[in-house]
Amino acid sequence: MTTRTLELAETVFRLYQDLLRRRTGFVLADLQRTRLESRLGAEARSAGSFYQLYGRLRNEPSTSPLFGRLLDAAVNGETYFFRDPASLRAFAEEIAPERLLAGGQDGVLDVWSAGCATGEEAYGLSIVLHERGILPGRRVRILGTDLSPAHVRRARTAVYGPQALRATTPERRRAHFEAAEGGLFRLKAPLAAPVLFEARSLLDEPVPGPAFDVILCRNVLIYLAEDARSRVVEILASRLKPGGYILLGASDALAAAASPLTLVRLSNDVAYRR
Ligand SMILES: C[S@@+](CC[C@H](N)C(=O)[O-])C[C@H]1O[C@@H](n2cnc3c(N)ncnc32)[C@H](O)[C@@H]1O
Repeated sequence: MTTRTLELAETVFRLYQDLLRRRTGFVLADLQRTRLESRLGAEARSAGSFYQLYGRLRNEPSTSPLFGRLLDAAVNGETYFFRDPASLRAFAEEIAPERLLAGGQDGVLDVWSAGCATGEEAYGLSIVLHERGILPGRRVRILGTDLSPAHVRRARTAVYGPQALRATTPERRRAHFEAAEGGLFRLKAPLAAPVLFEARSLLDEPVPGPAFDVILCRNVLIYLAEDARSRVVEILASRLKPGGYILLGASDALAAAASPLTLVRLSNDVAYRR
C-alpha cells in the first residue's frame, strides 16, 4: 500500500507562517514549505489535510505535544561543539572569573544558553569551565532553553555523533566523552551535571525571572521577526544580574543596536552589558 502524500498549498503554508510568527516570533522561510510538508505529513493525514491540521494547531496551547511537533518541524537547530572558540575563551578566561569574583566565595555563577538547540553550546560552557579548573569546585548552574521540544529531549541525553564533534579536537573528545552505542559519544556525567534544559519560547520567558551572570543567545535572533527580536533582547537584558554579560552571535548583533545594551570589548570577543 502506498502512503498518500498530502500537499501543503502555498496559501495554507502562509497560515502556518503567521501562526508561528504570532506565537514564537519565528519566521519560517518560504523555502521551508516542502520540509514542513514532509515533516508534518503524518499529522496532516490524521487531521485530514494541512488546512484541518492548521485549524487544530491554532486552538492548541504552544506547550501541547501537537504544537511541539510543529515547532520541531519548523526550526533550524544547526549547532556543534566549539562553534565559536573566541566567545568560549572570553567566557572561560575573562567573564566567568570576573563574575565569580563579584559573587564572592559562596556565589553561584548562573549561565543561560538561550536558543540552545541540541545542547552543544551549553555543554561546551561546562567543558571549558572544567578545563579552566573552575569546575568542579565552584557553584555553577547552566540552563539551556529552546523552542523545539525534540531538541531539548536530545540535549538531555548528552549523546552526540561525529557531526556535532566536527570542531572538537581528538584530545578534547577523549578527555570529555565516552563511547556510546552506535559509534556515538556521551559527554561524561560530571560535565553534564551542571546543565539543565527546558523547552520554551524566549517570548514566553517569565519577566521578571531568575537572573543570570552570562547569557549566550547566538544564531537565534536572525530567525525572528523584527518586533520579536527587540522584545527578546529586552527580555534578555532584564534577566541579567547587575554587571552581567550577554554574548550574541555576529549575525545577531544588529538586534542589539536599538536596545538598552552597551557593547564592551573583551580581549577575546565582544559582549553586551546593560
Ligand atoms: C541555529 S540554532 C543555534 C544554536 C546555538 N545557539 C548555536 O549558536 O550554535 C537556533 C535555535 O534557536 C531556537 N529558537 C528559535 N526561535 C526561538 C524562540 N523564539 N525561543 C527559543 N528558541 C528559539 C531554534 O529552535 C534553534 O534550535
